Amino acid sequence: MKNFTFYSPTYFVFGKDTENQAGEYVKRFGGTKVLIHYGGGSVIRSGLLDRVKASLDQEGIAYVLLGGVQPNPRSGLVYQGIDLCRAEGVDFILAVGGGSTIDSAKAIAAGVLYDGDFWDFYSGTPIEKALPVATILTISAAGSEGSADSVITKEEGMFKRGTGAEALRPKFSILNPALTQTLPAYQTACGITDIMAHLYERYLTNTKDVEVTDRLLEALLLTMVHEGPKAVADPDNYEARANIMWAGMIAHNNACGVGRSQDWNSHNIEHELSALYDCAHGAGLAVTMPAVFTYVMNHDVMRFAQVATRVWGCQMDFAHPEETAKAGIEALRNFLVSIGMPKNFAELGAREEDIDKLVEVLCYGDGRPGTIRGFVTLNADDCRKIYQLMV
Ligand code: NZQ
Ligand code: ZN
Repeated sequence: MKNFTFYSPTYFVFGKDTENQAGEYVKRFGGTKVLIHYGGGSVIRSGLLDRVKASLDQEGIAYVLLGGVQPNPRSGLVYQGIDLCRAEGVDFILAVGGGSTIDSAKAIAAGVLYDGDFWDFYSGTPIEKALPVATILTISAAGSEGSADSVITKEEGMFKRGTGAEALRPKFSILNPALTQTLPAYQTACGITDIMAHLYERYLTNTKDVEVTDRLLEALLLTMVHEGPKAVADPDNYEARANIMWAGMIAHNNACGVGRSQDWNSHNIEHELSALYDCAHGAGLAVTMPAVFTYVMNHDVMRFAQVATRVWGCQMDFAHPEETAKAGIEALRNFLVSIGMPKNFAELGAREEDIDKLVEVLCYGDGRPGTIRGFVTLNADDCRKIYQLMV
């Protein structure tokens, strides 16, 4: 196991009706003037925004509102949010929504305290400080409620890039699984896929003897395989939603990723798809993961065979472990299709003729060196072949 430090100070408040405690927690964590940041309107339709406002009113906490975060959140709204926070003297940001809203809130939080262009943080400049951020989560997916990460798309060039900093970890996150019951089945499935990708991208490691995190990752993958279809079939299944919600947090706050190298090639390859086609990140991953895994499988066949047997129940073929590895990738693909995810470019709305453009932005865009590094280092030719496998 590699040396590591792990500091995950987010205070989690989990369960039914917990959003009504938002004001109390903002006060506890020192907020006096809040930006409530939200997305395209689901929190208005569900009445959640009103409940959050009432909770802040009850504690006498002032707030301003900024809605309109799009899935695959854009830099334009981040600039607006930074200006608004400065003009209003905001000292705390409360994100009410999914990963896109939370990531936009994190970008604003870092940008407010920075003299330069906040995009610097998404092209390599480290984040030293940020306003405190907290979240009320409405979709189990990105894990941003417990992570140090944020992913933003810059309209100019449609670069989708991520950053990470301890200062971005939410001070508190309110997780009420019932809030996810209004999600359409497709969005629920996209979230499940994203959570599974966060697990797989940690599972694909070049570090040896990491049994404890291997086993944690397998347990979480099994949980998604068992609970995911229940939530897709019955949106009101609170217990399935609860299991998925906590799994989604653990999957990405890095508790099960420490001490090991990680992959993230599938995420990088997918991000170009959601940037270009504005598809859901999870749907893009459903198409990307089997292609990437097939392409890199021979780098460590036994690792793929291990997940195939332990998670997907495949029989180990000791004479031909590559057959077991392939069967595991096929089982993943079939599972994702069974919960309603796309399996190829056509179903995702992507186009073969765009592959050169995708590869260019992926490997060279925004100063990249022509390769992406993960479980395997991939050059432009590799990435082109991987996109071809998705057609
Ligand atoms: O905008 P509203 O109206 O709220 O609708 C959203 C949106 O259309 C809807 N939705 C969310 N909760 C709902 C709901 N609809 C009905 N009922 C509810 N309870 O769902 C749609 C998707 O929301 P979004 O926030 O985009 O979803 P998600 O959480 O999957 O976030 C995706 C973004 O997170 C990034 C992705 O790249 C993508 O940009 N990621 C962030 C990470 C991080 N910060 O650590 C890691 C991830 O790997 C990921 O890359
Ligand atoms: Zn993801």
